[in-house]
Amino acid sequence: MSFRVLLMSAFAMYRTEPVVCVIIISYIELTNQFLRARSMLVLYLSIYGNFYRMEALLASQDNEDLTRRDFMTLAGPAFFAVGGVMALWPFIDQMNPDAGALALASIEVDLAPIAKGQAITVMWRGKPVFIRNRTLAEIEEAKNVSLEDLPDPAPDEERTKKGHENWLVNVGICTHLGCIPKGQSLSDTKGDYNGWFCPCHGSHYDTSGRIRKGPAPRNMDVPPYQFISDTKIKIG
Ligand code: FES
Repeated sequence: MSFRVLLMSAFAMYRTEPVVCVIIISYIELTNQFLRARSMLVLYLSIYGNFYRMEALLASQDNEDLTRRDFMTLAGPAFFAVGGVMALWPFIDQMNPDAGALALASIEVDLAPIAKGQAITVMWRGKPVFIRNRTLAEIEEAKNVSLEDLPDPAPDEERTKKGHENWLVNVGICTHLGCIPKGQSLSDTKGDYNGWFCPCHGSHYDTSGRIRKGPAPRNMDVPPYQFISDTKIKIG
């Protein structure tokens, strides 16, 4: 048992039921629990004991001001509690995602190289994201569909950003059983609605990524994204 843990354990025992503390701490030592769990328990006991101490003190004060001695009595446990938090911080902090994971949570994509009618696929959080620079004809096609004809009704305006209607950004996963639909390269078959075609079970998506025919139950998802400049988006 380290000196720090020994010290905090002694403090916890002083503030709470000693027998209970001895049993718990002995159990932890005997079963060789991780330092993190042990430190957290000691911290909990410290705070728990301090809580009762303060409650009793306030009750006995009967609205009198706290004396200097009372302040010192409370400051000591508070010091230990803060010390405990500081000791635990490295363990808590290591649970945070590292810079690499944060970078993958959102990605920036330069759209400038994508010509009209072309599409690219980028990976975001392990999923393919289709980005298509739609032609005017494709945009018109998407806008002129009656919502009543759609299995999963959604106007094209809701699936694109105002002022950037030519850009369609979809998670490129078929909503039936998760295949990757075809339609990204110019030579790909794009299905009956000129969008994407999933060959696994024959789902057809239109130029807005909406399901039009086949077993897929809903449109391809639109990931959260925003334009950070005219030619750059941030996904995630
Ligand atoms: S997974 Fe695409 S149609 Fe079944």
